[in-house]
Amino acid sequence: MTPRVRIPKAHSDGSAPGMISAPAAVYPGSFDPVTNGHMDIIRRAARLYPRLIVAAVVNPNKRPWLTLDERVHLLRLACAGIPGIEVDSFDGLLVDYVHRRGAALIIKGLRIVSDFEYEFSMALLNRRLRGGVDTMFLPASLEYAYISSSFVREVFALGGDISEFVPAPVLQALKKIPASSRAWPARRPVEGKTR
Ligand code: PNS
Repeated sequence: MTPRVRIPKAHSDGSAPGMISAPAAVYPGSFDPVTNGHMDIIRRAARLYPRLIVAAVVNPNKRPWLTLDERVHLLRLACAGIPGIEVDSFDGLLVDYVHRRGAALIIKGLRIVSDFEYEFSMALLNRRLRGGVDTMFLPASLEYAYISSSFVREVFALGGDISEFVPAPVLQALKKIPASSRAWPARRPVEGKTR
C-alpha cells in the first residue's frame, strides 16, 4: 500500500530534515566519584537531549578526593555504551564553558528539597552571568534520592559496601585502592590512572 502521509527521513542525528541539529546540553558536577544517582540523571537527560556533555569541574574551592583525571576516567567507564554522551572537564565559569561548547542548557539533578534553594540561586546567577544559558532540573528517581558522592566517600573510607551506590566499573576501580589510603583527603591512584 502506498503511504498517503509523507514521512520525512530522519537525519542521522535524529533531527528532522531542515531542522538545525539539537545543541548540546551540559551536565556539570564534581563527580567525586560518579554515583548511580548521577547515572540516573545522565541516562534520563541523554534520552531528552541527543548530545549531552558530562563535564567534571576543576573546582579551586574544593579539595577533591579524586584527581580530575581520575574523576573523568571513572565517568568515562560509567558512561561507556550510553549513546550521545561526551565526557569532558572544565575550568572557570560554567556558563563560559557552556557557551564555548555551543550549548545553551545546563542540566542539574535535584535530590532533596534542601538542594533546591542552592540550585535555584545558582541557576539565577548563571542566567544573570550569561543571558541565554538556562538550567533544567531533573528530580532524582526515588531510589537514588539519598545518594551523594560525600556519603559514598565516607562509607567507602570506613570499609562499608558501596556496590549499590556506584556503577560496577567504578566500584571495580575504587576497590583497587588500598584500604590504608582510602580516606579523604589522601591521594591515591585509581587503577589505570597514575596521577
Ligand atoms: O557536583 P557539584 O559539586 O554540586 O557541582 C557544582 C558545580 C560544578 C555545578 C559548580 O561548582 C560550578 O558550576 N562550578 C563552576 C564555577 C562557576 O561557574 N561558579 C559560578 C556559579 S556558583
